[in-house]
Amino acid sequence: MAKLIIKQVSFVKSSTRIKDCPTRPLPEYAFTGRSNVGKSSLINMVCNRTKLAKTSGTPGKTQLINHFLINDSWYLVDLPGYGYAKMPDRERQKMMRMIKEYVLKAERLVCLFLLIDIRLKMQKADMEFLQFLGKNQVPFVLVFTKTDKLTETQLSRNLEQYKTSLLDTWESLPDIFMSSSLKNTGREKILDFIQKTLV
Ligand code: GTP
Ligand code: MG
Repeated sequence: MAKLIIKQVSFVKSSTRIKDCPTRPLPEYAFTGRSNVGKSSLINMVCNRTKLAKTSGTPGKTQLINHFLINDSWYLVDLPGYGYAKMPDRERQKMMRMIKEYVLKAERLVCLFLLIDIRLKMQKADMEFLQFLGKNQVPFVLVFTKTDKLTETQLSRNLEQYKTSLLDTWESLPDIFMSSSLKNTGREKILDFIQKTLV
């Protein structure tokens, strides 16, 4: 299989509703996870651009559905984050509604990349979102982020804990990727996965 090379990246548009999203019939890969988990950083790393998606030390930066067109052949979608505790309830619910509407109605969504911060124990917001994905049969994979912040021992211990708790409710594990946007790791495997599943 030839390697997927990101030759062209362009921002297409930001939308609040699925009906406003780009209409070209192209496969889409979307990224979400708890606020501040590192979605925009990961997208920048995957695309090899430093400032494509806006990153921030303050959670809740991405509040829209952002479509990027890659190689004129597929869309990469930066979704808002969920579960940011300091956001007012109504805002938080609005973000969640936006994400859920997108994943349920995006007709050409090939796969959702759900990002989880490997440093933390499984969070309630992630657990609930995972249940929603399962119930609605949304295709997803997991990306554990910020692996540079832990030692190898801590990494494998946390990963095992996640796997164990996933297997409490799931029959089998989804594909799992590990990444560090800081150390630039995880990119190849994510690109290989996209290449392999591009239709
Ligand atoms: P929202 O859009 O606000 O929900 O956040 P996000 O998920 O897009 O996260 P973003 O990429 O903006 O990163 C949040 C913070 O985490 C920033 O301060 C990043 O520099 C930092 N960060 C992201 N990825 C990594 C990583 O792999 N390692 C380390 N050490 N820090 C990271
Ligand atoms: Mg973001």
